[in-house]
Amino acid sequence: MPTTTPIPRGPAPLAPSAPAPTAHRRLVGDDVRVPVAGGGTRRYVDLDTAATSSAAPAVVAAVTDLLPWYSSVHRGAGAKSQVTSARYEAARDVVGRFVGADPATHQVVFPRNTTEALNLLAFRLRLEPDDVVLTTAAEHHANLLPWRRHAQVRTVDVDTRGTFTVDDVVAGLGASPRPRVLALTGASNVTGWMPDLARITAAARHRGVLVVVDAAQLAPHRPIDMAALGVDVLALSGHKLYAPFGAGALVAPRALFRDGEPFLVGGGAVSAVSGDDVVWADGPQREEAGSPNVLGAVALAAAATDVLDQGWDAVLAHEVALVSDLDRELASVPRLRRYGATGTAARLPVAAFNLEGTPHALLATRLSVEFGIGVRSGCFCAHPYMGRLLGLTHDEVARFHADVRAGRRDRVPGAVRASANRGTARQDVAALGEALREIAATPERDRLYRPTAEGWVRPTG
Ligand code: ALA
Repeated sequence: MPTTTPIPRGPAPLAPSAPAPTAHRRLVGDDVRVPVAGGGTRRYVDLDTAATSSAAPAVVAAVTDLLPWYSSVHRGAGAKSQVTSARYEAARDVVGRFVGADPATHQVVFPRNTTEALNLLAFRLRLEPDDVVLTTAAEHHANLLPWRRHAQVRTVDVDTRGTFTVDDVVAGLGASPRPRVLALTGASNVTGWMPDLARITAAARHRGVLVVVDAAQLAPHRPIDMAALGVDVLALSGHKLYAPFGAGALVAPRALFRDGEPFLVGGGAVSAVSGDDVVWADGPQREEAGSPNVLGAVALAAAATDVLDQGWDAVLAHEVALVSDLDRELASVPRLRRYGATGTAARLPVAAFNLEGTPHALLATRLSVEFGIGVRSGCFCAHPYMGRLLGLTHDEVARFHADVRAGRRDRVPGAVRASANRGTARQDVAALGEALREIAATPERDRLYRPTAEGWVRPTG
């Protein structure tokens, strides 16, 4: 029987459709209820959006729309392959425009996430072992370890608030030997702090240094204009941008990928292979060996379009309110210690903190078990940064590493992080404040929990 399914429409236009400002954007699963200690259920409060975000309904719709047409890309002659290939290539265009890439010079590649994007990039830059990459102490591991593998890393340090100045970066750029690459975050995943990208980028470009921005945290929260800022390369993750289907993006000048072997080798990345020769494919395909993640790319493009449909003004208005709410609620909790800069200037709705006397992992567990609130605790894949924020000495870091090597997890340093986005209701931040005040007032309940190899648990009965 012939199908009557209509051919998918393709990505929606990028022009925002001037929606009325909304308090928060509904996301898939934001009405899920979870059991809590003492009986009953509560609506799950997701304050772990910096780790991963729930899907936007428009993303699920785009994936569902394409599934009946899903087929091989670039290799099939069939009608479904044609549709799938067109949607995949259109996704590159949408994602490129979302971050203000210059279509004349940039290309968009779809790795799994920011980590894979930066590993790919560090490999493809064909750095020499003596080349210097300037990065900062505020990075998460994805923007640190790939550089360490391929080059000498010079680090811009942070102060006790977890920030650095433009002058600090300029000093790193001016030191000898001159760095080949500046790799810095657009926003910290721990404190939400955003460095002054425009001024830093200008300083780097003035010195002929390639500018790489890790936009894993920035992209879901702020408009980015690579061309206007002078950002050469940008990496982001779909799973933090309302598109949990396994694709991220690496946006970089085509010229960077013209020569040399791709990071992954195999079918799709080649135009011809013989017993002793390979002709690599041109363009983004060269960096995407194997069958690409079409649904992930389409999901990412749909998520970008959905953010633009809501409109950045509405997103920003809501997120600035969330930052103020977070600061006010956390300031009202006795025994609570914050890390990093506070205030709405240059900060995303993210906050790291500890409650004196309660281990960070136990605090996160109590928030979950007693209140149905999801947060993350630990060092957030940003160990050097957390070491600075916590004021760890060299010996304390060495003890941490020795403990981890010995499988001892009961005294690892860290903090609790609450993070929010345009899908967070303001009442969720209020619920966090209420829960923390109750936890601070009931330290005796800490004793209801036991540490295990898998974390803190509250035995029943
Ligand atoms: N970078 C991710 C986070 O902040 C993993 O949780």
